[in-house]
Amino acid sequence: MPSASRRPTRLAVLVSGGGTNLQALLDAIDADADFGGEVVVVAADRADAGGLERARERGIATVVQPLAAHGDRGAWETALRRDVEAHRPDAVVLAGFMRILSNAFLSGWPDRVLNTHPSLLPAFRGAHAVREALAYGVRVTGCTVHLVDEEVDHGPIVAQEVVPIHAEDTEDRLHERIKAAEHALLPACVKLLCHDRLKVSGRLVHVL
Ligand code: GRF
Repeated sequence: MPSASRRPTRLAVLVSGGGTNLQALLDAIDADADFGGEVVVVAADRADAGGLERARERGIATVVQPLAAHGDRGAWETALRRDVEAHRPDAVVLAGFMRILSNAFLSGWPDRVLNTHPSLLPAFRGAHAVREALAYGVRVTGCTVHLVDEEVDHGPIVAQEVVPIHAEDTEDRLHERIKAAEHALLPACVKLLCHDRLKVSGRLVHVL
């Protein structure tokens, strides 16, 4: 437990889409005086990411760095890292960020970059996890919050939540139920990170 006087952990949140997970995190921080974190910047790889508007409405700083604006991925990651670092975050949350990050970015926050993914990893890595779970015929899927390493949807797992698949599910309906699970799981894991309660040992994450 941090002491009452400890300053909140400064969080950067990266988004590509609508930003409902960002919203859930902001709401959780608002609702919990003991959350121990604050979002100091929201960054996106596209100017039309809905999450940017959610940030602006709250007066949170925003950064936009489209990959296409740079000559190569290395230059893009360097620019993204520079712009995010300008806000001095202690940790980074990928909340529906649809780009792969290498150590050019990740090394700025060792073991302090979290991602939420809409499947029970290691099943269905990648950008089409919900569609692929439906097509495979699994009876349960879910969401995973994990620490980010250089491999896609691969780093040490912090927590998972199971979501049953119904016979009448479409990709959209199933994804909505998975997102509802993410909206609880991601803030809970971010709070643990803010309180320095995640200890990484190889692939295992111990919650202190
Ligand atoms: C989430 O399901 C996330 O896991 C996936 O994309 C979705 C983002 O939703 N990568 P939102 O932008 O937070 O609404």
